[in-house]
Amino acid sequence: MAALRIALANQKGGTGKTTLAVNLAAGLHRRGATVLLDADPQGSAGHWARVGSESGDLPPVRRLGEGAVDAAIRDAARAQRHVLVDCPPHLQSGVLQQVMQAVDVVLVPVQPSPLDLWASVDMAEAVRTAQRRNRPLRAYLVVNQLDRRNALSGAMQQALAEFGLPALANGLTRRAAFRSAALEGGSVYALGSRGAAAVADVEAIIKEVLSS
Ligand SMILES: Nc1ncnc2c1ncn2[C@@H]1O[C@H](COP(=O)(O)OP(=O)(O)OP(=O)(O)O)[C@@H](O)[C@H]1O
Ligand SMILES: [Mg+2]
Repeated sequence: MAALRIALANQKGGTGKTTLAVNLAAGLHRRGATVLLDADPQGSAGHWARVGSESGDLPPVRRLGEGAVDAAIRDAARAQRHVLVDCPPHLQSGVLQQVMQAVDVVLVPVQPSPLDLWASVDMAEAVRTAQRRNRPLRAYLVVNQLDRRNALSGAMQQALAEFGLPALANGLTRRAAFRSAALEGGSVYALGSRGAAAVADVEAIIKEVLSS
C-alpha cells in the first residue's frame, strides 16, 4: 500500500510546524517505516535529528530541495508507510505548492489566538489553490500551544469556525517537554515519564489523522 503523506505547513513562522513534524514522525515511525523530509532551507528538522543522532528516536530525515519535490515525495512514499514533510514559513518559493500537490494531508499549525489565526489566511488561500489541482488533499488546522488551564476562548472558537479550514479536535498543549525534546535531539517519546503528557497529545493527533 502507498504511504500516507502528511505535510506540516503555514506561511506564518513559529507556529509549530517543525515541532509537530518531528514528533508526529516519531510516533508514526513506531507504527511503520517513516521518513521525514525537510523542505525548509533553515534545516531545523535535520539539525534536530543530528543533535540526537547517537541516542535519538527519530526516523531518517532527508533534505528536500526545490525542484524535484514531487519525485522525491513519490520516491520516499514507495519505500515507507508514512512520509512527513516539514515546510518553510513562506509562500514565495514554489516549494509549498509543490509539496501540497504531492501529499494526502496538510496540517496547518496555528497558535490559539484569533490574531495569529488571521495571520494564516494566505495559507488557507494557498490550500484552496492546491485543492483545485490535488482534489483529494485533506487540510486541517491544528491548534498548538494550548493552555493547560484554560479552554479555548470564545473568540478563538468563533474564529476557527469561520476560518474556512476545518480544525482537528485535538491539538498540542504548551509543554516544556516539547522544548526539552528539541534540545535533546529526540522526540517526546524518548523522554520517558517526563514526556508522557506530551506523547498523549501527539498520539491523539495521530489517531485523529489516521481515521480522518
Ligand atoms: N506545544 C509546544 N509547547 C512548548 N513549546 C513549543 C510548542 N510548540 C512549539 N514550541 C516551541 O516554539 C518554537 C517554534 O516552534 P517550531 O520551530 O516548531 O515552529 P515552526 O513553525 O517550525 O517555525 P518556523 O516557521 O521558523 O519553521 C520552538 O522554540 C518550539 O520549541
Ligand atoms: Mg520550522
